[in-house]
Amino acid sequence: MNIWFHPAKEFDNMLRNAASKIQLENFDPQMRTADPRFGDFQSNGVLPMAKMQKTNPRALAQTLVDELKKDENFDESLVEVSIAGPGFINFALTKKFLNAWLAKYKGEAELKNASKKFYNGKKVVIDYPSPNTAKQMHVGHLRPMVIGEAVKRLLKFCGADIKTDNHIGDWGTNFGILIYGIKTQNYKLDPNNENSLEELEQMYKRGSALTKENPEAADAARAELVKLQNGDAENVELWNEINKVSTVAFERMYKRMGLTIDMTLGESYYRDKVGRIYQELSEIGLAEENQGALVVFHKEHERFAKQPFIIRKSDGASNYASTDLATILNRVENLDAEEVVYVTDGRQQDHFQQLFITVEKWFKAKAYKLPQMRHVWFGTILGEDGKAIKTKSGEPIRLKALLDEAVARAKALVKEKNPDVSEDDANKIAETIGVAAIRYSDLAQNRTGDYVFSWDKLLAFDGNTAPYLLYAAARIHSIFRKIGTSPDCNFPEASELETEQEIALARKLIALPSVFELTLSELRPHFLCTYLYELAGIFSTFYNANKVIVDDEGTKQRRLMLCARTLRVLEAGLRLLGIEPLEKM
Ligand code: ARG
Repeated sequence: MNIWFHPAKEFDNMLRNAASKIQLENFDPQMRTADPRFGDFQSNGVLPMAKMQKTNPRALAQTLVDELKKDENFDESLVEVSIAGPGFINFALTKKFLNAWLAKYKGEAELKNASKKFYNGKKVVIDYPSPNTAKQMHVGHLRPMVIGEAVKRLLKFCGADIKTDNHIGDWGTNFGILIYGIKTQNYKLDPNNENSLEELEQMYKRGSALTKENPEAADAARAELVKLQNGDAENVELWNEINKVSTVAFERMYKRMGLTIDMTLGESYYRDKVGRIYQELSEIGLAEENQGALVVFHKEHERFAKQPFIIRKSDGASNYASTDLATILNRVENLDAEEVVYVTDGRQQDHFQQLFITVEKWFKAKAYKLPQMRHVWFGTILGEDGKAIKTKSGEPIRLKALLDEAVARAKALVKEKNPDVSEDDANKIAETIGVAAIRYSDLAQNRTGDYVFSWDKLLAFDGNTAPYLLYAAARIHSIFRKIGTSPDCNFPEASELETEQEIALARKLIALPSVFELTLSELRPHFLCTYLYELAGIFSTFYNANKVIVDDEGTKQRRLMLCARTLRVLEAGLRLLGIEPLEKM
């Protein structure tokens, strides 16, 4: 018996095979999740096909189904196929299948092993959180961290051979001003000083104001930059120290946010690698000189025919675009990337569109292997006033302050719910809930939209929130604690699913691979969030309606199995989102 992990995909394949056997060209099954009254999945592809072929859709559906039933992978004991309405094909998984699937895909290891097929070892490089050095992490750094990490974990779970390349902004004109400020104010950089990034930021602000008022200061700052670019030992040393101070502070935050970064090749890494870019792009006629700058126009494109992609500035300096061109070349040539994923905010959409079109033309001309390129962009976090979130004095909110506040609020809630909790436990649980709440409220939004930040909503114990999901998982743990068994044990005597609630829950669990497929298709983690939230709700309905600890062993075991599987799916899902579940809350 072949227990398909991802039945919708199997039926899709079987339908395609059946279509080609009956000489139906280009048939797209258009598999959907079905209305639960009719089954689990529905193929809607016959109608448009019949229309094109000017045949009767029901008859065509029947021919297809007859052919499909001849498929060697088809098994009548696992799925019932029927034709409905004008020619929809419905697939209803049998109870036998549901039981067997639940018995087989026990926990995270089994789910991961089966999910590997999605990416099949494909080499992926993902670019996040990629902050700029010499600046503190503020609320604007939240989204690239949490979205990037969730996307990375999901791709990895689904079989990608993935590496994070943290493309930090560590090179540019601001370093002239910074070095000028450090020298004139006799500032001592110290990676152990928690405030050093803040001080550097102030220094930059003062320096930048000064260079605007005073032409001599501006010249001096520019001279420091030129010295840095020419490899002056003292300035290179200062630049190294600035980056060191930034990295130490960033790493503290990555750790708190559970980020797994494999390498950091910042913009500076490419400063001696842009020459090849200018040369190749000019050589193939893609780049042209324009008012002293080197630019790329895309004549076929509505906007980019006029809006140039500037790859070398008129002063001869490289920029964000040249660096990104050198970066993708490195990722393909040295990291063998077959797919590159960039996680940044939506204001960079033009940059990445121009980058991708340029790379396509350039790689084609040079016969380089073209990777798949995806820009995973996101909107802005808004304050309750509907504008980008800021402190009262109009500064960006520091990320650390935001997280600390979340943890403090979570601690108050934990103590309120559980007055006997020890101080130590309260602190640990609060750190998890606080950070998870901020993270989840971000991931649960469709990433391309803006959203309003609300303490009350994100910390609520009901609704689509981290506290709700963490609590749902902890509650299932307590069921097993109470009866003294492990959720990982086998349930050999589990009888066939019976009640409406049991079946609804089983079907939801089995929908997990379809949710992975959907989430992967556009790299939008909110699809996974919605699923986990719905799963927790369906579990709750089941648990309220069906007593688990009953005398009949078969009933008890099958219900415990449903509890255990729900727990492991919830936990696996939370981990994919970057949230470490709790056993007790
Ligand atoms: N440092 C940039 C920023 O803060 C993001 C870099 C994204 N990655 C890239 N390869 N362009 O906006």
